[in-house]
Amino acid sequence: MSNVVVFDHPLIQHKLSVLRDKNTSVKVFRELISEIAKLMCYEATRDLPLEEIKVETPVAVATCHRISGKKLAIVPILRAGLGMVDGMVDMMPNVKVGHIGLFRDPTTHEPVKYYYKMPADIEERDIIVVDPMLATGGSASAAISFLKDDGAKHIKLMCVIGCPEGIARIQKDHPDVNIYVAACDECLNENCYIVPGLGDAGDRIFGTK
Ligand code: PRP
Ligand code: URA
Repeated sequence: MSNVVVFDHPLIQHKLSVLRDKNTSVKVFRELISEIAKLMCYEATRDLPLEEIKVETPVAVATCHRISGKKLAIVPILRAGLGMVDGMVDMMPNVKVGHIGLFRDPTTHEPVKYYYKMPADIEERDIIVVDPMLATGGSASAAISFLKDDGAKHIKLMCVIGCPEGIARIQKDHPDVNIYVAACDECLNENCYIVPGLGDAGDRIFGTK
């Protein structure tokens, strides 16, 4: 069964409180999504393997540790996942970025795929799928399935806000995928929006409503 990590770090919780506010501007919303992704990335990469190296300082030889050549990729689910990419790339400048375009059908709430482009060696990479919202879990589950069809074996899911329904869906469909969220909210409403959530993440990042 996948692990669920809920980030209770004060910096993340503070930023999340501003993000949720309906009066927060598009500019601030965008900045906060990126900052939260950066902080979450720090924790979600905690298990990266290290190797020992010797480094000559001006004084002596130091025994140091560096990331041991692990190949990583981050995969945002378009559109809203794009808002999390820059913060993560700031932390991992050489990371490869794949894109999956999905939108939820407004009536059925089922994900509809419109774009898919991965690094050529995606099956060799450790992947972090990113999307601010994990609601029914349909979009994230479909995205993970597409990646597995492509040979991906090590996948994590990082979302800003999740809910019990979305988490249960990923645990059922992909028990091997660990889930990272900054909050697990109460439930979904009749339109499958997270309650209390923050509204439509894509619209708030891109100012389309
Ligand atoms: C939102 C969100 C997720 C999805 C979550 O995207 O960014 O991708 O809904 O819902 P689910 O867990 O029920 O699938 P949306 O479909 O609104 O598209 P957008 O990012 O282009 O706005
Ligand atoms: N997508 C969003 O952007 N927000 C929700 O609450 C649910 C799905």
